[in-house]
Amino acid sequence: MPALVLLGAQWGDEGKGKATDLLGGSVDYVVRYQGGNNAGHTVVVGDQKYALHLLPSGILSPGCTPVIGNGVVVDPSVLLSELSGLNERGVDTSKLLISGNAHIITPYNVTVDKVTERFLGKRKIGTTGRGIGPTYADKINRVGIRVQDLYDESILTQKVEAALDVKNQMLTKLYNRRAIAVGQVVEELLDYADKLAPYVADTVLVLNQALEQDKVVLFEGGQGTLLDIDHGTYPFVTSSNPTAGGACTGAGVGPTKISRVIGILKAYTTRVGAGPFPTELFDEDGEALRRIGGERGVTTGRDRRCGWFDAVIARYATRVNGLTDFFLTKLDVLTGWEQIPVCVAYEIDGRRVEELPYSQTDFHHAKPVYEMLPGWNEDISKAKSFSDLPKNAQAYVKALEEMSGAPISAIGVGPGRTETIEINSFL
Ligand code: GDP
Ligand code: IMO
Ligand code: MG
Repeated sequence: MPALVLLGAQWGDEGKGKATDLLGGSVDYVVRYQGGNNAGHTVVVGDQKYALHLLPSGILSPGCTPVIGNGVVVDPSVLLSELSGLNERGVDTSKLLISGNAHIITPYNVTVDKVTERFLGKRKIGTTGRGIGPTYADKINRVGIRVQDLYDESILTQKVEAALDVKNQMLTKLYNRRAIAVGQVVEELLDYADKLAPYVADTVLVLNQALEQDKVVLFEGGQGTLLDIDHGTYPFVTSSNPTAGGACTGAGVGPTKISRVIGILKAYTTRVGAGPFPTELFDEDGEALRRIGGERGVTTGRDRRCGWFDAVIARYATRVNGLTDFFLTKLDVLTGWEQIPVCVAYEIDGRRVEELPYSQTDFHHAKPVYEMLPGWNEDISKAKSFSDLPKNAQAYVKALEEMSGAPISAIGVGPGRTETIEINSFL
């Protein structure tokens, strides 16, 4: 029973931070398994608001051990400033564990991310500019720097040399930038070694031993299903696997250990950055969703693109992740519409299509087929149980559940920890 995965079912920003924090009080470990500080997870506790980028949201629950798994890419300067920011606010971060096998986002990875995007011009991905893609590229190219390399200066120097060999050619000859000095990078990285040392651990062993002892482990995804490098809207994706399988590779835990996979699903849809988005709105409804939902990026401050709920995507998320439950968030944002359109299928070149097309060309041509559901005007932010919701809000949730293929086990009616309707227990 003890291992649960919690992940984004759409294009990220579904409310994973809030959902993780809600469960944090009842679990022993919360583990980030992929991505890096491209994530921006908001947690609201009482009148305090926290924006977490690299740290698992479980860091705010005193009984919980937060873990950064091997599949994460770590920018040490961001990590250290996030830790000191929390310490200043009285949060104890001493339990944090970081995998020695996690890869490091080096300053040159950040540079390469930015210059590559600039070079792509109007074909750019709209990355967060945090060096995520280039760091994963180095990992796959076998020229990456890992956390454990910080503790062997000779190996670190050789690896930075190998990585910069090609990159400096590229930076100077192709992008017209200055070469990056090996010594400077090594010096900066060595400076982090002592500061990170208390946290570095064999997290694979720790987590598997915890599971053997029946401890509860929650894997917290960054980004979302449609941003997955394999299963998302490639190439407009991130460079890791937010989908459920990523929890196994990104933490070193076997699939047989995972008992529950919870998809976080916004009651409408948002996306940041470039790429196809069939239900995107360009009218005052889109503007209203952005305003009422506070849809502005936690990491980059960019306005999020907004649109109606897309059941085709939700069904796809159920399939590729093997979802057992949904946590539907931000239902309160939809209060006040007379009718709420929900995309139930696509029309692609004159054909009705019920499932997400695997062909990129088809997806780019997909037009939403909408069904209109009746809206509600009552304030739902104080609702504590499903029956507290107005009838039309109940019907909206039930319709989404039927279309999406997994039970909706919790509903968010506000950003706060307690503004949640729990239907089925997750633990
Ligand atoms: P994440 O990246 O998936 O953790 O999501 P973000 O934190 O980037 O964006 C979700 C935003 O919605 C945050 O500002 C949350 O505080 C907020 N939020 C989460 N759940 C709810 C909810 O049920 N209702 C409302 N109104 N806001 C919510
Ligand atoms: P959370 O965890 C929304 C998007 C970027 C860009 C693409 C690639 O808060 O849900 P990257 O920097 O990862 O190479 O950018 O992915 N993206 C996110 N969008 N929420 C996120 O994280 C995101 N992390 C990356 O906007 O389109
Ligand atoms: Mg976010």
